[in-house]
Amino acid sequence: MLLGEALGLLDPRPGDVAVDCTAGGGGHSAALARAIGPGGHLISIDLDPQSLASTAQHMQGWAGQFVSIRDSFVRVAQHLVQRQLRADVVLADLGFSSGQMHEAGRGFSFQADGPLDMRYDPDGPVTAADLLRSCTEEELADLIRRYGEEPLAPKIARKLVQTRKDQPIQTTAQLVQVVQEAYGSRRARKSRLHPATRTFMALRIAVNDELAALEALMDQVIDGAAKVGEGGWLNSGARVAVISFHSLEDRIVKRAFVRLAEGGLGTRLTKRPITAGADEVAANPRARSAKLRVATVGGPKAMMKVAPAGC
Ligand SMILES: C[S@@+](CC[C@H](N)C(=O)[O-])C[C@H]1O[C@@H](n2cnc3c(N)ncnc32)[C@H](O)[C@@H]1O
Repeated sequence: MLLGEALGLLDPRPGDVAVDCTAGGGGHSAALARAIGPGGHLISIDLDPQSLASTAQHMQGWAGQFVSIRDSFVRVAQHLVQRQLRADVVLADLGFSSGQMHEAGRGFSFQADGPLDMRYDPDGPVTAADLLRSCTEEELADLIRRYGEEPLAPKIARKLVQTRKDQPIQTTAQLVQVVQEAYGSRRARKSRLHPATRTFMALRIAVNDELAALEALMDQVIDGAAKVGEGGWLNSGARVAVISFHSLEDRIVKRAFVRLAEGGLGTRLTKRPITAGADEVAANPRARSAKLRVATVGGPKAMMKVAPAGC
């Protein structure tokens, strides 16, 4: 999503070290690999081993150095420093991939019945079913309102707690039914989105602790920018792009890039987020909420740090 726009601003060049923090189906990694060429170094990270397998398939026959890392991007700096690499290009395309969405067994979709899992990392500690079993009504209402921006959150939480007294809520179809009952048929008919959209999104964000992970990634970008030339993980002039799908995510990215610029450690290339064009939205409705922000690393302070003494 927003691939052309992201590549245009990331400007990957032959021989660059590129980091794809969210490998997914491998489309963005493959495009980065083509641009950095045989002299380049691509590091693709994902929590999901299936995503990494499909990315590795894209890389077959590519002559550059390819490293696949199964981990959270919260540790991206550590992985680069360990390998004595510094990134020129960093991309994070947040959320779930279409492969994950279409696999009913992962529980991301309200359109197919499956277990209420929703973990990117299949070995992660908590599933959506665990949250629905263990959270109080107040906690569920807060989670669905905050992460899902769902106006009916208290009503849905009440219904969830009533339902689980009779039987555990363990499948996507059960959750859809509970949300639909909370909406009522008239409100459900009038709703522009499927009634379950926001509740599913909220649970997915909570299961994977997505906002905390993004905060950690952005802190590493700022820290890396402050350590340019001093053993950090970013090269001076590195370009960092984040594609987000939620207003809370976009706010985190925006604030971090503002901090970067105000600290003299980088420059925002997008004062306003770039959004998908009508063609992309028509082909993929999820693109409607995609927002791209890009910044470069290396402002006056970073430049002072890398300049040789006496310059
Ligand atoms: C939108 S998809 C990326 C799609 C990819 N750009 C492509 O071209 O196919 C997001 C991916 O990020 C992964 N992911 C989500 N949170 C992550 C995290 N904290 N660390 C690493 N990977 C994460 C998901 O497992 C998913 O595969």
